[in-house]
Amino acid sequence: ERKLILDLDTGIDDALAIAYALGSADEADLIGITGTYGNVTVERGVRNSLAVLHLFGRDDVPVHPGVDHPLTYDEAANGPWIPSAGSVAVHAPNGLGGAVIPDSPRAPEAPGSAVDFIIDAARTYGENLTIVPTGAMTTMATVMAKAPDVIDSGAHITLMGGALTVPGNVSPCTEANISQDPEAADRLFRCGARTTMIGLDVTHQTALTREGTAQWRALKTPAGDFLADMTDYYIDYYLAHQPEVRGCGLHDPLAVAAALDPGLVETIGVNLKVDLDGPFRGRTIGDRARLTDPDKTTRVAVGVDVPRFLARFMERTTALAAG
Ligand code: BDR
Ligand code: CA
Repeated sequence: ERKLILDLDTGIDDALAIAYALGSADEADLIGITGTYGNVTVERGVRNSLAVLHLFGRDDVPVHPGVDHPLTYDEAANGPWIPSAGSVAVHAPNGLGGAVIPDSPRAPEAPGSAVDFIIDAARTYGENLTIVPTGAMTTMATVMAKAPDVIDSGAHITLMGGALTVPGNVSPCTEANISQDPEAADRLFRCGARTTMIGLDVTHQTALTREGTAQWRALKTPAGDFLADMTDYYIDYYLAHQPEVRGCGLHDPLAVAAALDPGLVETIGVNLKVDLDGPFRGRTIGDRARLTDPDKTTRVAVGVDVPRFLARFMERTTALAAG
């Protein structure tokens, strides 16, 4: 059975990714969630993950906090890392679009335990493990540096981040998750680990509209109301700032869906790097030094079966939220 770890900065679409993963229990066993930062701090993201798991009756899934700031961030000089004003606007201060759900009675696992949790899982499950990072890539980069055997363990990484053929969402050439910690993402792309990049190239094609959230609301359950309230906030943000998407992009759920069923996306092999200097810092781009290598360590999603994904997303999340 496929084992799944989600590495989340639990914001709105990360919470939807949890719902999708829980609704896909027939296909994969969610063995843990690790907490990164980006939309929110690690502390807030972990709290949100625990609360969402509790709402869906899944207090059995451990939540491990990960690295809480970028590799090059000077915490001594700048204090604890906090999300940008832009992230707070997209996901609201609580990360969940202002939707309120009860906190979990559970405490998170030990601070920083995400790194060893992922290493142990890769050693235990090898190619049966898929890791889906959907926030800053710092914890993942730290894993690869601490335990290089994970690179060849067979564990696959299907990440949400980057943009190869379309504009970015934090600047014309940069996507949020990669730009949170460009050094970490660059290390991940170039370390030799097998990665699939689910970037804005495909996630901006998978828009959810208010017709979708109305289906959740019609369930008249606390979980249905939560999904609808949270996602309506996200849709409003998109309509105001990126109307061309025609709804909210289902970034993180698409990464989970592609991890469980790679046939949902069309991919091409491209060895990538991340620009670290100059005006394009944070951009995902072909790594000229490895571009013609026959071995492609990264596959980039360039196409997605939108109707099939959206139908599956609504089916699984609705069944889950129906209770
Ligand atoms: C990504 O950035 C975050 O805001 C979302 O949760 C998603 O992972 C989209 O660029
Ligand atoms: Ca995310």
